[in-house]
Amino acid sequence: MIITIDGPAGAGKSSIARRVANELGFEFLDTGAMYRAVTWGVMQRGIAWDDVESLVEFADAARLIWQDDRIYLDDQDISEEIRTPQVTSHIRYLADPPKIRERITAQQRRIATGRDIVTEGRDQGTEVFPDAHCKIFLTASPEERARRRQRQLAEKGQVITVEEILASQNQRDLEDRMRPVGRLRAASDAIVVQTDGMSPDEVRGEVLRLVRECVQASAANSAPSDVTT
Ligand code: DC
Repeated sequence: MIITIDGPAGAGKSSIARRVANELGFEFLDTGAMYRAVTWGVMQRGIAWDDVESLVEFADAARLIWQDDRIYLDDQDISEEIRTPQVTSHIRYLADPPKIRERITAQQRRIATGRDIVTEGRDQGTEVFPDAHCKIFLTASPEERARRRQRQLAEKGQVITVEEILASQNQRDLEDRMRPVGRLRAASDAIVVQTDGMSPDEVRGEVLRLVRECVQASAANSAPSDVTT
């Protein structure tokens, strides 16, 4: 069974998807980490960002492994390295070209094959798993997402204004929404959860409730019906 959770940067998808997966005993896949990993790999090799052919070649050969919440590129655990602002600001070079998305989409489908999984990203319910059993689109206003991000950073001792966060977040939103393929949008059959004013616990509770409903409905639909002769 596949559950997709899509939404913009800073909507809290990863932590919610991880917790939903834990509660249901499903696996969790962070597809943003996959785009981050190939971006990091390109930076290490010094491939030019505008050399699309070489980028596609690299994405083709890259061996991405997602295991126990960690991401490996060609056997190297790079789970921390992929979270730097340098990686974030270059992701579009790997996330925009349709040929690269095709490769990463194929890897996501391969990872999900035969598994019960909660997968989160931008295009999971639209492009990668259009037949997913349950689709959630988790969102919040730009200001709310920026305020939450500021609080998270402050907890780590990093002081940055909401305005600064908002500026880079708006840039990412724009890039995510304008992508020719795999752009950020809710699938027509997704349930949109608008989380402004909700606490993390309230969001988790609401998403879990919706997902449980879907899972039950899906199990009921696939149960063999009584055949009367
Ligand atoms: O979820 P994240 O912030 O770690 O994702 C980083 C970037 O990766 C995001 O800005 C766009 C790209 N991405 C994508 O294009 N498709 C996905 N399914 C997930 C992420």
